[in-house]
Amino acid sequence: MIELRGAKVCVTGGARGIGRATAEELIARGAEVWIGDRDLAAAAETAVEIGATAHPLDVTDEVSFRAFLAAAGADGPIDMLVNNAGIQLMGGFADQNLAAVRRELAVNLGAVLTGVHLVLPGMRLRRRGHIVNVASMAGKVTTPGIATYCASKFGVVAFSRALRAELSGSGVTVTSVLPAATQTDLTSGVRLRLQPILTPEQVAAAVADSAHHNRGEVTVPRWLAPLGLVEELTPTPILWWLKRFVGGAEYGGYDPVQRKDYLDRIFLG
Ligand SMILES: NC(=O)c1ccc[n+]([C@@H]2O[C@H](COP(=O)([O-])OP(=O)(O)OC[C@H]3O[C@@H](n4cnc5c(N)ncnc54)[C@H](O)[C@@H]3O)[C@@H](O)[C@H]2O)c1
Repeated sequence: MIELRGAKVCVTGGARGIGRATAEELIARGAEVWIGDRDLAAAAETAVEIGATAHPLDVTDEVSFRAFLAAAGADGPIDMLVNNAGIQLMGGFADQNLAAVRRELAVNLGAVLTGVHLVLPGMRLRRRGHIVNVASMAGKVTTPGIATYCASKFGVVAFSRALRAELSGSGVTVTSVLPAATQTDLTSGVRLRLQPILTPEQVAAAVADSAHHNRGEVTVPRWLAPLGLVEELTPTPILWWLKRFVGGAEYGGYDPVQRKDYLDRIFLG
């Protein structure tokens, strides 16, 4: 696996939230960290505060992704890539703008494939590298009101699982990290009922730990790991009742005032 001390790590969406906490944790463990983000002003500020290097990055743009990785890899190879950038829309699927749906898939799933495709050749050549794809519990458990998000995160989990098998024996390892709801801008204004709520630091520790173990999937918290199986095995009427009990009657409900800044930000530019 990867020794973090002295390793070079790229974190996408590192300006804030889970990405920022991850970058900070990796630096504390001795890594040299590059953060890429669409919000360059925030990334630059974060970089100064935590001791990382910031670079502009739009993960949905292959040219931008190449430039980020080339800059980070200019003076030595990239040992670890954390595909973290992600966005979340909420509400009934039929009510959503199709362009926004495509955007969510492009950021959350398409960009993960792009990042892996770009970083993998060098890692395979060196027979050394670790890739972390930040998925979500929504990649194991379906939730009405975030259907596109679920599709993207199930996609990330499936892709990571297949890729991990494909790369077995290559010296390159893949872990998907599946956090439950976490206190970041992404959940601002979201009505979370009866769910464990994590800090970004808890997720960051799971991402950093994955460099040292050989687990393909890590849920945060760990005790949620069997939830996917529970969803598969529970009869539908019970399952739907349970989802209503945990999620509330209004699936995908959120406070539009509290969520406005987040939504404005993810659709900027
Ligand atoms: N917050 C949660 O409850 C939660 C739970 C499970 C999984 N996740 C996942 O964790 C990851 C990080 O989410 P977060 O909660 O820290 O969100 P966040 O909104 O706090 O941070 C996401 C960062 O990604 C950046 N970003 C967005 N689109 C980008 C793009 N096209 N190119 C480059 N950067 C881009 C944003 O500018 C932002 O800095 C996401 O993949 C998310 O789906 C979050």
